[in-house]
Amino acid sequence: MDSDGSGFIELDGIEKVFDVRRKAGLLRRERHQVRAVDGISFSVARGEMVGYIGPNGAGKSTTIKMLTGILTPSAGRLRVAGIDPSRERTRLARRIGVVFGQRTTLWWDLPLIDSYRLVHRMYRIPDKRYRENLERCVELLELGELLDVPVRQLSLGQRMRGDIAAALLHDPEVLYLDEPTIGLDVISKARVREFLRDLNAQSRTTVLLTTHDLTDIEQLCARVMVIDHGRLVYDGALAGLHEVGESERTLVVDLERELPPVELPGARVVKVEGPRQWLAFPAAASAAPLVARIAAEYPLMDLSVREPDIESVIAKMLSRRKVPDPAVSEEVAERSAL
Ligand SMILES: Nc1ncnc2c1ncn2[C@@H]1O[C@H](COP(=O)(O)OP(=O)(O)OP(=O)(O)O)[C@@H](O)[C@H]1O
Ligand SMILES: [Mg+2]
Repeated sequence: MDSDGSGFIELDGIEKVFDVRRKAGLLRRERHQVRAVDGISFSVARGEMVGYIGPNGAGKSTTIKMLTGILTPSAGRLRVAGIDPSRERTRLARRIGVVFGQRTTLWWDLPLIDSYRLVHRMYRIPDKRYRENLERCVELLELGELLDVPVRQLSLGQRMRGDIAAALLHDPEVLYLDEPTIGLDVISKARVREFLRDLNAQSRTTVLLTTHDLTDIEQLCARVMVIDHGRLVYDGALAGLHEVGESERTLVVDLERELPPVELPGARVVKVEGPRQWLAFPAAASAAPLVARIAAEYPLMDLSVREPDIESVIAKMLSRRKVPDPAVSEEVAERSAL
């Protein structure tokens, strides 16, 4: 809770509808509306690090753009640090940092350090603070050798680290990250994650993180929000997603030889490859009784348990959620009124 008793980031019934025109024949253009965000409410406390995930086109980037003030909501109430973002975008800009993984905020043709000097001036960062923050970012993000290199010559991973530093030079209280690890190799991803984890732990920076890489979420966010078709469909602990998604763990057994699928109550064989078999069982159940029975009844060489991957858990959860068809609900309402 923030000092006034509410969350640091507060959304209440936020909607964003885009008016789009599309071609309908040679000359005619049809207007139609895209409901990108469809009534979202949530609250994030100061210092939290929250994952904001969902399929392509779910409305994640649109939400982040409203939180920065780039876009104005079509309906609902929005506050970040007590500020209405679209009304007071400049005042808010001093308190937030944004990284869009898909495009850079750095000056393409200038050496990295020149972008930082421009940020220094634009945000009127006190000299001492600027120097301290720059020094810290350069050290932790390993930017030392890159400062004199024009941004266009940086690799994607180097550029991303450069962007993250640029977003942090003015000590923002909130950091929005829209796919900060997109396109990065495993080592660069690990480096970015480690930096973000330390930032959140040490500076208590509030972080809202959008990503398609669920390892980001697993390693960084205790809380995750799932958005689908502009609506929030889950808000809670990462572990809770497994329950909602009815997730399964997998027991991988290596038998001494090829055998027909193992038959055990409480588990089902999902794959067989030579003497190796994969058995799925409910994630909430203990593996111990299964292991005991297999060891007693089959010629067992080795076994291991695999945790469910979140991607499939989310896919399962979304596929089971039926988006209500307005025509059908109207019909149901009419019938029940009879
Ligand atoms: N400026 C715009 N004009 C019209 N439609 C838009 C605009 N921006 C976004 N949309 C539409 O709004 C919906 C949500 O888009 P958004 O970019 O927020 O999705 P996203 O969750 O960030 O997806 P992705 O994972 O692909 O980045 C999509 O249907 C998109 O086409
Ligand atoms: Mg997006």
